[in-house]
Amino acid sequence: MDYPLLSDNLTVNGNALYFDGRNVCELAAKYGTPLYLMDEDRIRARCREYRAAMRAAFGEKSAVLYAAKASAYKQMFRIMHEEGMHADVVSSGELYTALQAGFPAERLWFHSSNKTDEDLRLALQSNVGRIVADSMEELAALQRIAAKTGKVPEILLRLTPGIDPHTFEAVATGQVDSKFGFGIETGAAEEAVRFALSLSSVRLVGFHCHVGSQVFDSDVFLRSAKIMLAFMAEVRDTFGYVADVLDLGGGYGVRYLPSDPELHLSANIAEIGAFLLAECDRLAYPLPLIALEPGRSLVADAGLTVYTVGVVKPIPGVRTYVSVDGGMTDNIRHALYGAPYTVLPASRMDEPPAMRATVVGRCCESGDVIQPDVPLPGTLQRGDLLAVCTTGAYHYSMASNYNRLPRPPIVMLRNGDDYLAVRRETLDDLLQCDL
Ligand code: LLP
Repeated sequence: MDYPLLSDNLTVNGNALYFDGRNVCELAAKYGTPLYLMDEDRIRARCREYRAAMRAAFGEKSAVLYAAKASAYKQMFRIMHEEGMHADVVSSGELYTALQAGFPAERLWFHSSNKTDEDLRLALQSNVGRIVADSMEELAALQRIAAKTGKVPEILLRLTPGIDPHTFEAVATGQVDSKFGFGIETGAAEEAVRFALSLSSVRLVGFHCHVGSQVFDSDVFLRSAKIMLAFMAEVRDTFGYVADVLDLGGGYGVRYLPSDPELHLSANIAEIGAFLLAECDRLAYPLPLIALEPGRSLVADAGLTVYTVGVVKPIPGVRTYVSVDGGMTDNIRHALYGAPYTVLPASRMDEPPAMRATVVGRCCESGDVIQPDVPLPGTLQRGDLLAVCTTGAYHYSMASNYNRLPRPPIVMLRNGDDYLAVRRETLDDLLQCDL
């Protein structure tokens, strides 16, 4: 095989790429391009793997929350609900989507570094399970709003344990220099505990941290867990307060390139489990409920984006540009982070990679690059299909209508069947808010 197949849901038969056992060319003909395909079987398998690993490590004292920001639409929430997951939402929009999909409010945890009063009101009205408070302003607003409604929401405090997860800085959120959460080192976390415990209309149930993204080993989680538990023990000694919940956030990685490592999820979680049990024992701290909040690692490699090639422009001595019918509107991650991708010639898998080309989108912007330097067949031409792998997380959810491009549909693949979960936007959809 001349082209790398990153995961076992990708196969080849003749010239055609197959995804979850389905011919990508036939699906493109049926639904049009650009097209997001989602391997529902894989998403469900991942949910089960996470939940089983967490149960094995912590028994009933475990929860796996889907970080909905990775990809949020009604069908995704339905799938997560059916799989017994909790979910984390970060805006009224995500919360509303979840509720409209029938996701039980008590299994939703509400995050965000800057929730508006409207967000907090909706969260309280909806009876979300927990609110993860990020700032003193939010605690004060929660107290004010909750007191009026007579509700006493359960809250966690988001702390920053001060760890650089050695990933790219734009998505490294656990350092002290961060807009997120209360710094432990700076003393802000202790102040927040003091304040939260003084409030009559919130009930502090525990602590949260999220250290970063694209993490492949347990080291980062072990380091953050150690710092969090040490802080919790200090809080117990200072305030006599013992937490019921410790949420270690998300961050496990996925393969965008063949050189990326495989994630050994169950082994990783077992390691975190053994560490936490030992550490709680050492500190004589009763084991809290342990939560993880994976986004990317649940859905990313369940996604494949399919495009039709338009212009192939060789510039002698410089490079060849291959333009596709989507771009930064459906995948902004290379433009924003320089993110790497594996791109496959979905309709010419049997032809050798005779050229290297820069795959670009159709937006009026030079930065609209999906991936530079991609090995592709020399015969590639208008009408051929390209597939970009690992696009199930942070693609649809970060999509835009720049240049008034309609967003692609999402087609779910399940048990050899295919169905629309999100339909393609029409030109009239683009006018819906215009007065
Ligand atoms: N929990 C919290 C509080 C988070 O901030 C995040 C991600 C997650 C969970 C899920 O992390 P994951 O398991 O997906 O790594 N747009 C960027 C990713 C931003 C992630 C921000 N927070 C990207 O396209 O790479």
